[in-house]
Amino acid sequence: MKVVSLCEAYRDYFSIGAAVNSRSVDTHADLLKVHFNSITAENEMKFERLHPEPEVYDFEKADILLRFARENGMRMRGHTLVWHNQTPSWVFRENGMPRKKENLLTVMKDHIRRVTSHFSPNLYCWDVVNEAVEDKGSNILRRSPWLEIAGEDFLKEAFVCAKESVPEASLYYNDYNACVPEKREKICALLRRLLEEGAPVDGFGIQGHWNITAPQPDEIRRSIEAYASLGLKLQITELDLSLYAQSDPYRPEPGPAPEELLIRQTKLYEEIFHIFREYRDVIEAVTFWGVADDDTWLDRFFEPHRANRPLLFDEEHKPKAAFRAVTQF
Ligand code: GLA
Repeated sequence: MKVVSLCEAYRDYFSIGAAVNSRSVDTHADLLKVHFNSITAENEMKFERLHPEPEVYDFEKADILLRFARENGMRMRGHTLVWHNQTPSWVFRENGMPRKKENLLTVMKDHIRRVTSHFSPNLYCWDVVNEAVEDKGSNILRRSPWLEIAGEDFLKEAFVCAKESVPEASLYYNDYNACVPEKREKICALLRRLLEEGAPVDGFGIQGHWNITAPQPDEIRRSIEAYASLGLKLQITELDLSLYAQSDPYRPEPGPAPEELLIRQTKLYEEIFHIFREYRDVIEAVTFWGVADDDTWLDRFFEPHRANRPLLFDEEHKPKAAFRAVTQF
């Protein structure tokens, strides 16, 4: 049976992306070329990779990914410029002492200018700031070295600097748990404030690291409405839908995935893509965090290590029932 192309099925709706790494552009090339028209670097454009030491920039691996995108007529997202993770400690400290505010902002802006201009004009959007909002408690902003040293100003300054450097690219703020009501309110408050201050934020990236127990589709719909009402474009930037909640300690036996869980996953994928299609006017792109179930950060990153099977293609790169559910509409 001929399999339809995922990105062709969504041609009139939004781009379909995948996070890739320098291995998967070879090992998963066949799927990527047929089903995806956008890519994001899983790790290769993070601060520690591109700029490991003050005077050292290394674009080699990221350039391989960009070349793959260009050769295959795909768009590419830039991910990510300012984040508290995967950022080397020299960024925040110099000669054993924490940097001063102005000094840190200079480091940040030099990085933003150098990195964005290296890839310009090839990347159509950038995650300028990633995960700056606190999950719990009353503080809106996460206590990160960025905030502790530079105060809130780093956020607006990052967007202003990126806009000056690559005015052609859409600039995104990107975060996880974006459909959890408590965090959603904080993210909206932050975005509202940035927009009021005149920060050039064009869009919000809902990461979408979800699972078959949460979030509920209704909550996803409410969240899309809330973010879109700020006047921003939206993307789902890191979609994966695990068979297990992160807090679930279940360790599956090796072998095929439990059928009952796959059925729930299929139904949920069907429902959320139905919602995405309804909001095609505001959703620019939906990017999966990986290509197929044989290579997903979830299996390595969280305990217990297990097969989370969060994507639309199985370990053998065959389309799952969830693939058919999202392409037949
Ligand atoms: C966050 C980041 C991604 C990636 C994932 C885990 O969502 O935005 O770049 O690190 O965590 O792979």
